Parts: sequence; C-alpha cells; structure tokens
Amino acid sequence: MSITRESDLIEMKKVSNVVAFTLKEMKNFARPGITTKHLDDFGASILKDFGANSAPNKTYKFPGWTCISINNEFCHGIPSDKKELTEGDLVNIDVSAELNGFWSDNGASFVLGEDKNGHQKLIDASKQILHKAIYNIKGGVLISDIGFLIETEAKKCGYRVIKNLTGHGIGRSLHEEPFEIANFKDRFNRTRFKKNSVVAIETFISTHSNYAVTLNDGWTMVGNKGGYMAQHEHTIVVTDNKPIILTDKNGIWN
Ligand code: CO
Ligand code: CO
Repeated sequence: MSITRESDLIEMKKVSNVVAFTLKEMKNFARPGITTKHLDDFGASILKDFGANSAPNKTYKFPGWTCISINNEFCHGIPSDKKELTEGDLVNIDVSAELNGFWSDNGASFVLGEDKNGHQKLIDASKQILHKAIYNIKGGVLISDIGFLIETEAKKCGYRVIKNLTGHGIGRSLHEEPFEIANFKDRFNRTRFKKNSVVAIETFISTHSNYAVTLNDGWTMVGNKGGYMAQHEHTIVVTDNKPIILTDKNGIWN
C-alpha cells in the first residue's frame, strides 16, 4: 500500500507493534522441551489479546497462527504437538497479522539456548544483510539492486540465497504489489521502490540450497540441496531518506 494519510501510518504502526511484540515474546518464551504447538498457542494468545488476526491463517488457511520452522525446515513450518524444541535448534518464527484492515509481517531466526550446532554465524550474516539492505532502500531505488546487494553480501560470507522466496508489498493485505522483492539481481524486474509505499523486506540466506521446495504436508519448505537457512524480516515504509522500520520493536538487531 501507499501511505496517503496520517491515519494510515498510525494504523500501520499499531499492527506492526503487535506483530513485533508477539515475535519478541515468542522468542523469549521458546525453550527446550516445549512443542512448536505450545509456542504457537502462546503467540496466538498475544495476537488475540490485541484483537489481531493471524495473517497466514486468514489469507491462506494455514494450519496454525504463526509459522515455526526448525532446523532443516526453511519456512512455513506447521506448529505441531509432536515437534519438541531442543537446545541448539535453529528456530525460525514468522509472525504476520491483520488489525483494523491493516497488515504487517516480521520474522526472525535464532539459536535456542547454547549454539551446539554452530548456527550463529549464519544468523548473524542474515541479520547484518537485512540491516544493510533496508538502509539502502529509498524511493527510486531499483528492487533488483537491493536483490544484488543481498546476494553479494551473502556470497561474501560464504552463503547462498534462496531464489524462489521473496519480500513483498504489504499493508491492505498480506501480499501485494510489488509481489517480488528477490534476494538476487533479477534483471527482468525493472520495478523501483516508491516513496510512501509499505514493503516487507526479508532475507533468505542459506548454507547449501538455492531453492525451497514444499514437503508433502503442502506447507513446510526445505532446501533443494538441504542445509540450513536463516530469515529476518521487517515491514518498512519507504521514504526519500532512511526507511521507517515499522516492526523495529521486535528487537531482531539487538
Ligand atoms: Co513473514
Ligand atoms: Co513476508
């Protein structure tokens, strides 16, 4: 969406604070021994307290309230009472929601407890790349130039990017124009970021894979060549200077 009135910005800030707070609280609540269903129910209760609706559930009938993906699962992991969190797991939580007709999206990967499996380097790379990407966005910048930046930074750290997962426009629905904000230089995409538009910028930094494929459950995505992936996501407003980071209260850069 494009922010045309002060009230749009106020509403976008409201829903963004809700998804950011929910993500932060879920990260804090996550601990070894609880199931991903338990963690999802905890997140759902926070969204409910604010009167917000789960975006993936409302938009796609996703069988959960938030997406929780563990280890070799890249994204869209279904919360399950059979999946228990373990010390050292690579966990990704993605929280998106609707409130008063406005939509916001954010996500983070993190290591649960002690980094027994050596995932922290991948996570730190993803966080830093998101930061660099976001602070290079302003009105008039080519979307493909940001994709190029993300892929170049990933390669510098010895990683790859997932080609078929992208950031997206957001605001009046979960996914809207521009639909594809890729993590690589898509030379066929001549679209530019527009001042006052709301977009969700997300990294998909991987150790081995370059495509994500859907499992038989119809939702969970894993890598075509296995390995691990880290994702960090903020919803922002594009300006002609530094973007406004609507979901900054999730604290993913702290
Ligand atoms: Co998301
Ligand atoms: Co998103």
